[in-house]
Amino acid sequence: LAVEALHWGEDRLRIIDQTRLPGEVAYLQLETLESVWQAIRRLQVRGAPAIGVCAAYGVLVGVQEKAPGTPGEVVTAVNDAADYLATSRPTAVNLTWALDRMRATVDESEAAGAPCETLLEGLEAEARAIDTENQALCEAIGREGAALVREGAGILTHCNTGSLATLASGTALAPLFHAHREGRHFQVFADETRPLLQGARLTAWELMQEGIDVTLICDNTAAQVMREGRVQLILVGADRIAANGDTANKIGTYSLAVLAKAHDVPFYVAAPYSTFDLALTSGDAIPIEQRDAAEVTEGFGCRTAPKGVPVYSPAFDVTPAHLITGFITERGILRPPYHEAIAALPPTAACEAPQPILESLK
Ligand code: MRU
Repeated sequence: LAVEALHWGEDRLRIIDQTRLPGEVAYLQLETLESVWQAIRRLQVRGAPAIGVCAAYGVLVGVQEKAPGTPGEVVTAVNDAADYLATSRPTAVNLTWALDRMRATVDESEAAGAPCETLLEGLEAEARAIDTENQALCEAIGREGAALVREGAGILTHCNTGSLATLASGTALAPLFHAHREGRHFQVFADETRPLLQGARLTAWELMQEGIDVTLICDNTAAQVMREGRVQLILVGADRIAANGDTANKIGTYSLAVLAKAHDVPFYVAAPYSTFDLALTSGDAIPIEQRDAAEVTEGFGCRTAPKGVPVYSPAFDVTPAHLITGFITERGILRPPYHEAIAALPPTAACEAPQPILESLK
């Protein structure tokens, strides 16, 4: 990885403040549950897999704060921390997926009569397991998707889906990193991704650090580069994918999918099983986060709109499944009809042990 965006060590959680990149690599020590919640809410740590991993460690921070003395108190502290962190951002299902795994760990151990220390050790082991599993999932996505990245191709991507967003080798960027390591040459067009510029600030930065040929474009330039015939593939990530394949991702993804259709460009979504929400039958049920107007009218401290103008700022949109050419997952590329292919992935709830997945990745 170019940077270590999150570190858990000696019972401390430290992250890179992604809102200050690329100007400054500043670290934040998250010592309270409230500071973990704020870091997720403010996008100091962001990207669906990254907020899942951060929330898992965040539960440990919350438990430390409460200093529980009995197994029952440990369970209460975990549930309180998980309930609270779940309110930080609503769209990425990886967040609740990771929190549910943390809850299940203590529920099972307490039911089995385990003492406090065992519960606490189990919690830390589960957070680390979520972290490690996530890294393996991203590596596998990179391997599975790399063949789509052809020599000399132009590839358009949106938002940021690399090591900062995943604390691993990425989702949509992972096939690019993989193909680059294999010696292939290609050109990436990175949408700047208004309003918070994850593409400009983070994706361009990460790809340049890897020595990958990247060209930054304004979001509204995407149609033109497609029309010029310079894009052969679109790769995006996802925050939540419903059982029918409808996909929530950073606002602007849907318009790219429509443009891809109009220009006959393959449109792929890269995501691990933890981003699929089999409980939702379609994208209509995906909760969409609304962001503060100030992010649009005075992003990064500079006013760009009249005071008091009404603003509509959903953080994500939903791309209908029929516009998606395929899903790049750790288990290979899913093709339509998506219902069956997605149903064969493991459920997102904490009812399945992660071990079989890790085993299958070896
Ligand atoms: O608001 P953000 O920056 O957290 O949005 C991130 C995205 O939309 C990513 O595309 C998504 O989480 C997939 S990532 C690896």
